[in-house]
Amino acid sequence: MKKRIIVTGGAGFIGSNLCDYLLNKGNEIICIDNFDDYYPCEQKQNNLKQALKNPNFTFIKEDIKKTNKLAELLTGKFNAIIHLAAKAGVRYSIKNPIGYEEINVQGTKSILELAVRKNIQQFVFASSSSIYGNAPTPFDENFKELKPISPYAQTKLLSEKIGKEYSEKYNLNFISLRFFSVYGPGLRPDLVMNKIANGLFKNENLKVFGNGNTARDYTYVDDIIFGIEKALDYKNTNFEVFNLGSGNPIKLYEIINIFEKETGKKLKIENIAPINGESEITWANNKKASELLNFQATINIEQGIKKYLTWYKSHCL
Ligand SMILES: NC(=O)c1ccc[n+]([C@@H]2O[C@H](COP(=O)([O-])OP(=O)(O)OC[C@H]3O[C@@H](n4cnc5c(N)ncnc54)[C@H](O)[C@@H]3O)[C@@H](O)[C@H]2O)c1
Repeated sequence: MKKRIIVTGGAGFIGSNLCDYLLNKGNEIICIDNFDDYYPCEQKQNNLKQALKNPNFTFIKEDIKKTNKLAELLTGKFNAIIHLAAKAGVRYSIKNPIGYEEINVQGTKSILELAVRKNIQQFVFASSSSIYGNAPTPFDENFKELKPISPYAQTKLLSEKIGKEYSEKYNLNFISLRFFSVYGPGLRPDLVMNKIANGLFKNENLKVFGNGNTARDYTYVDDIIFGIEKALDYKNTNFEVFNLGSGNPIKLYEIINIFEKETGKKLKIENIAPINGESEITWANNKKASELLNFQATINIEQGIKKYLTWYKSHCL
């Protein structure tokens, strides 16, 4: 059934892939994004090129904190909000925490207010694996002693708590999806795979914090989108949290090996001291998402990197 969906942060990496996918399925999308300056807005403009050709796509260049203005602009009935807009970046938030609370927490509150005012019941929220900090692995949604170790991760945990309050008070369905190291076409420039590709194709050194043994549960963006789509139809409980990851942590040096093998090039590495605030490993237990959302990650790391490199070569060189 065709849905009318608001996507915040729809010009970003995950958001633009999501908008294209949902539009291809015949849905109507209203995208809210202010083109924040975390990375160059040309990339975000490019991200939206395809969607802007679709008559079912509306773009609103606005800040998510402007509740009243957005309430005025958004007319008619909506099936769901997918709230992706955020100030991203675990590492950047450690060095420069200003603005994270304002955008990620106050911004989420503003979009929740909008959901209440517009009577939109389904609210899908982009949370993050980073909120697990150094919790026991694999990370499990039932683990309750969460101690996020970066300002960014703290804002995501706080947003989940506020989402829970709203779900109880206003009977909306707040579905929080904890994404694990997403990668694919349109990747954010600050993320490691982009830096590896720049190292290989633009002859830049890759700065490796520590010895390259940190491991991440890299998840291809199409798998994340599949999980988001499933969450749109999840209406069994008012508040639910799901991990969305591949369930397969891979060490940084292994990722580098795959890139080198795929490109036939050798990366120049500069080892620097590790920084506090980043987890040693992220690893999703996907049991809950698999049982309740029928979620499964289907793209393995070699396939995913191949697809990413195809995009990188046609857009970044
Ligand atoms: N990429 C990942 O690996 C990853 C992992 C976990 C969680 N997430 C979460 O997924 C979501 C999307 O991440 P992404 O990697 O696509 O990031 P992104 O930075 O590419 O996208 C975020 C978008 O939000 C927009 N935005 C920021 N502040 C805004 C504001 N005040 N008003 C309106 N728009 C605003 C930005 O312009 C950007 O287009 C974020 O909430 C992020 O925290 C991402």
